[in-house]
Amino acid sequence: MKKIGVVTRDCAGVNAAIRAVVRSADHFGIKVFGFLKGYDGLISENYIPLDRRSVSGIINRGGTILKTSRSQEFKTIKGQEQAVKNIKKMQLAGLIVIGGNGSLTGARILTEKYGIPTIGIPATIDNDINGVEMSIGVDTAVNVAVEALDKIRDTAMSLERIFIVEVMGRDCGYIALRVALAAGCEEVLIPEKEIDLNQMYAEIVAGNQKGKVSWIIIVAEGKAKASDIADSITAKTGLETRIAVLGHIQRGGVPTAFDRILASRLGYYAAELFNKGGTGQCVCLKTGELSTISYEQALQPREIEVEGDYKLIKILT
Ligand code: F6P
Repeated sequence: MKKIGVVTRDCAGVNAAIRAVVRSADHFGIKVFGFLKGYDGLISENYIPLDRRSVSGIINRGGTILKTSRSQEFKTIKGQEQAVKNIKKMQLAGLIVIGGNGSLTGARILTEKYGIPTIGIPATIDNDINGVEMSIGVDTAVNVAVEALDKIRDTAMSLERIFIVEVMGRDCGYIALRVALAAGCEEVLIPEKEIDLNQMYAEIVAGNQKGKVSWIIIVAEGKAKASDIADSITAKTGLETRIAVLGHIQRGGVPTAFDRILASRLGYYAAELFNKGGTGQCVCLKTGELSTISYEQALQPREIEVEGDYKLIKILT
């Protein structure tokens, strides 16, 4: 019987993807082993067999049942060689890797440098995988942040305050832009767009003089710290500010229906491709259809479409 391994990072929807991989692989007569703590598990031979029953009741659970790590060892040649040795010893036909840039880079190394067949499934709240419309976890992260923003707005309006809310996304402003649009925020600061801060201060002062008393400004973590923006607004406008850093709550939580469906489709497709001998690519949806993209393309910096949404945010505030 053909055997494959699964390695994961965490975000909402990853468990739904594991479930889909395991049950689809079973459908194709492939046995699956789940490596614990990401690539560290591959190096230390820390794995568990996964069957249909072991993935029941996880479609709605956040995180990853396999646990994960940012493996420092796998970045070394010694670590990579040990991982390859273990894959060969276990006679695995290859790996399905579920994760973001770091995980997919690892998969690419295993395939291109060591000849291990791999298929990647993009799962990262940052949505920074190039050529992939939506990675698993993004929709949940945006919804979690919007729910938090709605609560912040209640208190911001009641106390007539300016709130600066920092959202995740490492170097990518995707979450910030979508959250700003969905939560009706006044301004969004993201790495992909230069904003004239003096103009922003002037807009706040002008609005304040006309009776506008509360603002919510979203800042992507890759752009600036919420505390620095808050301090500069207070210094330039004399108005009171508060901050909220949403942080890791965006990476957890119950996956949305969108993420569960995406994860189920991509997990199935990854198993199907493996069954057909596919390797060295990521599965994804392109205009709603199951498709693939090379690691080379997926790992290029992603440029997000900013202007349309940004313009809308400004028109609607
Ligand atoms: O890549 C996903 C992400 O959540 C980023 O948005 C964030 O910058 C980073 O991971 C945080 O990493 P860690 O959980 O290791 O602190």
